[in-house]
Order: sequence, then C-alpha cells, then structure tokens
Amino acid sequence: MELPDAEQYSATEVLPDGLPVRIRAIRPDDKARLLEHFNRLSAQARRYRFFAGKRSLTERELKRLTELDFINHVGLALTTDADGSEQFVGVARYLRAADPARAEIALAVRDDYQGRGIGPLLIHHLARIARANGIQMFEANVLGDNDRMLKVIRRSGCAVKTVTDAGIVHIDLCCPSLPQ
Ligand SMILES: CC(C)(COP(=O)(O)OP(=O)(O)OC[C@H]1O[C@@H](n2cnc3c(N)ncnc32)[C@H](O)[C@@H]1OP(=O)(O)O)[C@@H](O)C(=O)NCCC(=O)NCCS
Repeated sequence: MELPDAEQYSATEVLPDGLPVRIRAIRPDDKARLLEHFNRLSAQARRYRFFAGKRSLTERELKRLTELDFINHVGLALTTDADGSEQFVGVARYLRAADPARAEIALAVRDDYQGRGIGPLLIHHLARIARANGIQMFEANVLGDNDRMLKVIRRSGCAVKTVTDAGIVHIDLCCPSLPQ
C-alpha cells in the first residue's frame, strides 16, 4: 500500500470503548510531551519498557527518541485531547536491525490507559509503515513476567519464533495487518 512520508503519518481511530484518538508520527517538538508521558509511567511500566528502573529521560535520550529519521527509526504517538491539550498516552517505535528486513519494536502505554486496546492498535499502525518501508519481520524483547505484552503479541497471531534467554523472551513476529 502507498503511504505518504512516514514523517507525516497521521490517522484517527476510535478505541473499543468509544474514545477518539489520533496516531501520529513523533516530531522533534514533542520532547515535553514525551517526557510527560515517561513521567506518568509507573515504575513497573518503565522496567518493562527499558528493562531498568529508569527515573528520568536525559536531554540526549529525548533527542534520540524524538529526532527520528523515519527510515531506520520510526516512532508513533497515540494522543488524546482529554483536557484541551494534546497528550501522549501511548508511544510505539521500531528500530531497524542489521538485517534491513527486520526491526525491533518497543511500546509504552500510560498505566491509566492500559487494557483499552491501545498497544495492539499502535503495533498495527507501526506495521503499516514498516511494510511500506520494506520491513518483513518485527522482533520484540519482552521481560518474562510481562504477561500483558506477551498476550498482545500472542493475540496478534503473528508470533513465529520464541526463544527465552536469561529471563527475556525474544520473539519474531510478522508485521500484523490492521483489523478490517
Ligand atoms: C504491554 C502494553 C504495551 C500492552 O498495551 P495495552 O494497550 O495495555 O494492551 P491491551 O489493552 O490489549 O491489553 C492487553 C492485556 O493486558 C491486560 N491489561 C492491561 N492493563 C492492565 C492492567 N492495568 N491491569 C490488569 N490487566 C491489564 C488487558 O486486560 C489485556 O488482557 P485481556 O484482554 O485479557 O483483558 C502496555 O500494557 C504497556 O505499555 N505496558 C508497559 C510497558 C511495556 O510492557 N512495554 C512492552 C515492552 S516491549
């Protein structure tokens, strides 16, 4: 499917519970919104996302996570306008691997928005961009006790290979299509 530049990516969706949301490319001017999103993640969500008890994001990390090339590093934010200003409630990104047909995905949904179908939706939109960019396979590294992420991947019907090593589950998955 033809897609406009991934850098301009923007789509509207309605969550299963009726909340209208927007999914859009992360921009360099999103540093404050990304930091706010990080600050609102629980310690557990940070551990699942970064594999460490991270307390903040440095200026350098914020630059790396918002100034993206949209070829090897693609990032999407799922946003709401809940209180009149745009807020990030979910963030998803992929980083292309040494094999250019593969990319590693990482996601973080704010705790107060988890369980509303946001994670799977973000993966589907990421996959849409990935396929248009020549990526055929996603990889995910998931802490072994992260049942929610493992469930999301299992439900995508796309997991093709799973290897567990030192408490981390390495999963190869196809790029799932958007549900009709
Ligand atoms: C893993 C994650 C991306 C999934 O996104 P999500 O939007 O919550 O996904 P879903 O809404 O499809 O929920 C997945 C399952 O987890 C369950 N779940 C989600 N949040 C929950 C919560 N706070 N308490 C209990 N169950 C929860 C959901 O109920 C669902 O299971 P069910 O359909 O059987 O009820 C999200 O939970 C998250 O960001 N977690 C922290 C960071 C992380 O783990 N990142 C992944 C690193 S690769």
